[in-house]
Amino acid sequence: MRVSGLLHYGLQLPDLARGKDFYTDFGLSSAERGNQLVVRCDGRDQDQTVLVEGPDKRLHHVAFAAPVGSLPELQRHLESLGTALQDAPAEGLQGGLWFRDPDGNAVNVREQELAPPRLVIRPKQNLAGDYQRVDEALWLTANTPPRPRRLGHMLLFSSDINRSQEFYERTLGLRLSDKIPGAAVFMNAGPGDHHVFGFVRSSHPGLHHSSWEVGNLDELMVGAQTMADRGHRIGWGLGRHFPGSNLFHYMRDPWGSWIEYFIDMDQITENWQAREWGWDDAKATPERPAVWCPVVPEAFMHNLEPKPE
Ligand SMILES: [Fe+2]
Repeated sequence: MRVSGLLHYGLQLPDLARGKDFYTDFGLSSAERGNQLVVRCDGRDQDQTVLVEGPDKRLHHVAFAAPVGSLPELQRHLESLGTALQDAPAEGLQGGLWFRDPDGNAVNVREQELAPPRLVIRPKQNLAGDYQRVDEALWLTANTPPRPRRLGHMLLFSSDINRSQEFYERTLGLRLSDKIPGAAVFMNAGPGDHHVFGFVRSSHPGLHHSSWEVGNLDELMVGAQTMADRGHRIGWGLGRHFPGSNLFHYMRDPWGSWIEYFIDMDQITENWQAREWGWDDAKATPERPAVWCPVVPEAFMHNLEPKPE
């Protein structure tokens, strides 16, 4: 049994209007559903984020897709592991199976196909010896406003990344993609993106970042620039990651988590072999933890979510 991918995440916020403004700035659409706000990518028929009002900001839940007809088997599997099923943690979120991970995060699995994202038009590029764009001025069309295609992945803070990895392997069939021992794990849901989910070490749970695929490098950087112009000035990028190899630019959200635009992530199959990543192998330093990047902000690993009582 393996889930087929990441559907959406829920975020509890003290002020939904502020959440709507932030995700709108980022290039996403939102709509009210009951007393919640549902955030989607233009042209994709799938919830990506559900904003739930609450006293403070914290990750509310994570939701995964499972093949249609597979939930009875998953329920038997979870029960055989002693994982207790629960009710949905808020009105309007009923459906599928709900349980808690070892850090107390609410996890939802729904019988639902992953919706196709809006198609990307492959840009013509001029590379040495291979000139595809002739008699066309790229700059006339390069200033594309950011409109993410899909939620690609998210990383959670975990109080024990090995325990979290093992739990999601055992319950949902996620597989290890790569690991930075003692620091981070990256997990896949089968063929596709190198990682759709993962964990970074912290003293307590929380949302580290969510990551959203955009159409091309111009859109990624116009997005970063637009976010800075709209007041979201703390960021990290442009860079190319180690695990996943994607190009990235992160912005800090108003509540201290990060949100990432990405393109060009490694795609993997069942043949992918997980590796342990090392600073020495990668010739990286803690200040530059990527193939290339600006110096990482110190706040990048801060977990500002309140500790559970
Ligand atoms: Fe990421």
